[in-house]
Amino acid sequence: VTVYVPADSAARSVGADEVADALATAAADAGRDIRIVRNGSRGMLWLEPLVEVETAEGRVAYGPVDAADVGELVGAGLLDGAPTRLSHGRTAQIDWLASQQRVTFRRVGVIDPLSVEDYVRHGGFAGLTRALEMSPADVVTAVTESGLRGRGGAGFPAGIKWKTVHDAPAELKFICANADEGDSGTFADRMLMEGDPFTLIEGMTIAAHAVGATEGYIYLRSEYPDAVATMRQAIEIAYSRGWLGERIAGSELSFDLFVRVGAGAYICGEETSMLESLEGRRGTVRAKPPIPALEGLFGQPTVVNNVLTLGSVPMIMADGPAAYQELGIERSRGTQVFQLAGNVRRGGIVETAFGITLGELVEGYGGGSGSGRPVRAVQVGGPLGAYLPTDRFDLPMDYEGFAAANAMIGHGGVVVFDDTVDMARQARFAMEFCAIESCGKCTPCRVGAVRGVETIDKIIGGVDRERNLILLDSLCDTMTKGSLCAMGGLTPMPVRSAVQDFAEDFDRPPVQTG
Ligand code: NAI
Ligand code: SF4
Repeated sequence: VTVYVPADSAARSVGADEVADALATAAADAGRDIRIVRNGSRGMLWLEPLVEVETAEGRVAYGPVDAADVGELVGAGLLDGAPTRLSHGRTAQIDWLASQQRVTFRRVGVIDPLSVEDYVRHGGFAGLTRALEMSPADVVTAVTESGLRGRGGAGFPAGIKWKTVHDAPAELKFICANADEGDSGTFADRMLMEGDPFTLIEGMTIAAHAVGATEGYIYLRSEYPDAVATMRQAIEIAYSRGWLGERIAGSELSFDLFVRVGAGAYICGEETSMLESLEGRRGTVRAKPPIPALEGLFGQPTVVNNVLTLGSVPMIMADGPAAYQELGIERSRGTQVFQLAGNVRRGGIVETAFGITLGELVEGYGGGSGSGRPVRAVQVGGPLGAYLPTDRFDLPMDYEGFAAANAMIGHGGVVVFDDTVDMARQARFAMEFCAIESCGKCTPCRVGAVRGVETIDKIIGGVDRERNLILLDSLCDTMTKGSLCAMGGLTPMPVRSAVQDFAEDFDRPPVQTG
């Protein structure tokens, strides 16, 4: 019997390793021969550790399983897929999962992450094989036609970025995967790297063929040690199987790939800071232009894309760009891997076509707040994203629609707050976060964020509220218009949304301290 127990760090953090050990012991005690596969997570985080048992009818799911439950469950027939306590029936029929459109996450949780055989059996390397049959320019055209936009947050068309690098004349070009996933409430990059690392390798290799690059770097945050280990092992395996290195899969393409680990600064997720850090310097922002597509790593033309952007490319090439382009609404094509987090009942990965509403995500998939209290605010797009009240739940997830509503989809993080949240404190937190994480290169952000905290403290403390609210608005204006990068430029977004949509929290009696 094959039994799946995720080795994903979210599952491990709630005891998946202990569950795997307990299963091995219980099976041995029962005289049963089992094979335990440490897969990625299916993304149903509230059910982790999720144990799946392979049966003739498909996999059957149990969760959340505690190591202490294992003996009882095995006794009740878990190893035969019996409907015991904690059973959810066939995994493929769990509505939460079955109703999603998993494209980028197609294989995550399904395969053994480091098995090339599993990867190929589930369609792996089909995209690269097809790309290698095409000219680089045709691959760029296919990515453009798919409508894929940068999933790091800015939503810049991936094909246009690739064309800029393709057209830039240079001996040496690079592909950089931005895996410095720093946004609050986001974990999709990590889950893809831990659950299906060859997809990122394949996507980067297709990009290398498309633009004429010979070297690639995955800039991975130090807070993700499991992803670092998995990616490093996957790269080693890919070399040994001829999917990296010289003459890949018998073609003319040569591509070398390296992992570099960051040191824990949010700003190193900004692409030019990331390049500075990759070059061995402190991560401070470079002025643009020149754009990295023309002068990037070591001054050479460089594709910098988020993990999810590159990770979507193999499927786009394998299925054809039209299949991807058909999904979504308006100019937001394909799927987005949304991440539900914070005070939410059913947190995890929801990959679905653009166009689903915020309410369907939070109330539908999320099931409302984890505390059971009414949801009051949802922050979408990380710490620089707007706080949206529940009367905006009809807003469809779409880049332009969100921009028109003074909000952003960003990297797809959705953080839920219940009615106990104090939005004035959240606004203060936005400024404080910016003050701590600012790289210090420009004044509106370096000084502005500190003044922002002070001003919000006065507002909370009831000091000259009206005047300080006007001052805060003017400061937000300066930061938005005068900052060199999105850190200082977007910090006003959560602050202003809090002031505008939750004004009552800025008008409470001053908090007594001491
Ligand atoms: P941006 O709009 O300046 O650039 C987007 C991308 O397009 C960059 O890679 C840029 O180099 C490229 N680009 C622009 N013009 C181009 C051209 N003509 N040809 C080729 N490439 C071109 O946005 P930026 O500052 O890179 O990112 C801001 C976004 O980052 C925010 O909207 C936010 O959502 C997101 N963000 C994501 C975080 C995460 O953890 N994933 C953390 C913080 C912010
Ligand atoms: Fe650095 Fe902030 Fe200026 Fe960005 S906005 S360059 S993080 S000081």
